[in-house]
Amino acid sequence: MSWLAVLRVYWAGATVVLAQLLRRLRGGFPEPVFSPQPGRVAIVTGGTDGIGLATAKRLAGLGMHVIVAGNNASRAQAAVREIRKETCNDQVEFLYCDLASLRSVRAFADAFKAKGVPLHVLVNNAGVMMVPERRTQDGFEEHFGLNYLAHFLLTNLLLDTLTASAAPGRRARVVTVSSATHYVGEVNMDDLQGRAGYSAHGAYAQSKLALVLFTYHLQHLLDARGGRVTANAVDPGVVDTDLYRHVFWGRGVLKRLLAWMAFKTPDEGAWTSVMAAVSPALEGVGGRYLRDGEDAASLRVSYDRGLQARLWARSCRLVGVPDVTPEVMAA
Ligand SMILES: NC(=O)c1ccc[n+]([C@@H]2O[C@H](COP(=O)([O-])OP(=O)(O)OC[C@H]3O[C@@H](n4cnc5c(N)ncnc54)[C@H](OP(=O)(O)O)[C@@H]3O)[C@@H](O)[C@H]2O)c1
Repeated sequence: MSWLAVLRVYWAGATVVLAQLLRRLRGGFPEPVFSPQPGRVAIVTGGTDGIGLATAKRLAGLGMHVIVAGNNASRAQAAVREIRKETCNDQVEFLYCDLASLRSVRAFADAFKAKGVPLHVLVNNAGVMMVPERRTQDGFEEHFGLNYLAHFLLTNLLLDTLTASAAPGRRARVVTVSSATHYVGEVNMDDLQGRAGYSAHGAYAQSKLALVLFTYHLQHLLDARGGRVTANAVDPGVVDTDLYRHVFWGRGVLKRLLAWMAFKTPDEGAWTSVMAAVSPALEGVGGRYLRDGEDAASLRVSYDRGLQARLWARSCRLVGVPDVTPEVMAA
């Protein structure tokens, strides 16, 4: 284990928790209000639990047709029933997608496209945190493969549908959930999969930094293609969910105490994702890192266009999609 990676991640988390505690004492996180979104369609990965469930519920509550993408059919069916009941919106459904398998991601994209519905919002939300060292079905380190590469592929597969679904003055949106741990992440292009020594903390932080780099490069490509789709990264804060189950203190009294005092609720954690998905203020706005509903600076290296392009090119090779960067940027 790399103790430096552990310390860096806990430093990032502690800073956020302290800021949230102070904000809670000053009145908390007011619930944003958005206008109804009938006729709009959204996919939420990991919409079965935690922040994703809260996001799916809120989007359904705004009248959107919501597809919950998940890898646990019974949990997902229960989530769909719960969302339908609470929002009185029957246009909520489950489609199987195991992000630990690129084949499953491809099957999900095919199944979604076979429905023949538009796609206005893709929320890349699902994730795992600090899991023991293990591999996805394609042999990738799990944080890198599931949190990052699977969403990279999913977005690429759905970009044509997002582009076709956009309308003048009403762009389609890609919302990608990162984390404050990206501030202490490093993308090691020589060892993206931690083969030289596994650190669960380092691997999680790297995956979240990779998602920010991906978002910014995607926005450059989208701008060059005429800007019918926007992409933003979202930082939900530190939120009381089951994500912490693999952390040694994540199921005990310390977590409950911290959560009670300073963690956001899943609803509060979802608000920036929902804002990124529907807010009129963000129409046409992309390439941002959004935290607590506001534009924030991400880690300096995330703005490095060379690194963004190298990671994008490598990711294309790893998932088997063409890298259109040279031709799009040259056009
Ligand atoms: N909680 C926080 O403090 C916090 C802070 C910063 C960022 N985030 C980010 O927020 C996102 C949501 O996390 P959360 O806190 O809501 O955690 P969570 O409650 O554990 O939810 C994670 C979701 O991802 C899904 N998922 C996991 N493996 C999957 C797979 N192989 N295929 C498809 N879906 C899979 C889970 O479904 P199953 O349970 O059915 O597997 C679940 O719906 C993550 O990207 C996380 O990194 C969270």
